[in-house]
Amino acid sequence: MAGMSDVDAHAERFDAKAADYDDSNSPEYRACLELVIDHARELLRRSGDGVTARSDSGEVLLDLGTGTGAVALALAGEADRVVGRDVSEGMLERARRKADERGVGTVSFDTGRFREPAYEGPVDVVTSNYALHHLDDAGKREAIGTIAALEPRAFVLGDLIYFAEPDEPAHDPSVDDPATVGHLADALTDAGFVLTAVERVTDGIGVLVAERAR
Ligand SMILES: C[S@@+](CC[C@H](N)C(=O)[O-])C[C@H]1O[C@@H](n2cnc3c(N)ncnc32)[C@H](O)[C@@H]1O
Repeated sequence: MAGMSDVDAHAERFDAKAADYDDSNSPEYRACLELVIDHARELLRRSGDGVTARSDSGEVLLDLGTGTGAVALALAGEADRVVGRDVSEGMLERARRKADERGVGTVSFDTGRFREPAYEGPVDVVTSNYALHHLDDAGKREAIGTIAALEPRAFVLGDLIYFAEPDEPAHDPSVDDPATVGHLADALTDAGFVLTAVERVTDGIGVLVAERAR
């Protein structure tokens, strides 16, 4: 992968993994995924209860680093429109196929990056599961700034997150580069979010719920 950008290298790696991705996940991944889905569902259900969608055509959920659509497809019935973005065409292809097989017409999957989501228009809730750690810490901060600029009322982030620093490096940072919970909390609050829930799955995995300060 010499000469490739980091993002292109991740895209190529996930293209190669796409066929087996859905069968290769750990119990910790599933726990994190379920927490992201539950928190996002609860936030979407607040609509109508004193909370209004940003667009007249209803609520939009944007799922970044959507992969094969685990979060996006689980929440298809909860928002009027669900938009999935990823850098890997192989993963997106799987996500589209699953949407077709399930007859879900309100979800669309296209190329987009954390720092260039390629989505115009109002977004109510942003989700991301197990993907932001592919950026380095400065990139994560930039991505959080990009998400905040979309002005969602909440961002639900599940990821590899260090709640305690490991004694030995647990990952190759060119592939997986988790931030500490402190770094993410700073980046989220600096971008104008308030942390309303922190869920630790393990010392290295968790979910942060960030809501826009009113
Ligand atoms: C471990 S998968 C997680 C997929 C899905 N969110 C899930 O929970 O199953 C990580 C995904 O992040 C994507 N990704 C990596 N870097 C990205 C970037 N800069 N912008 C958007 N997606 C990215 C990869 O292509 C991959 O599909």
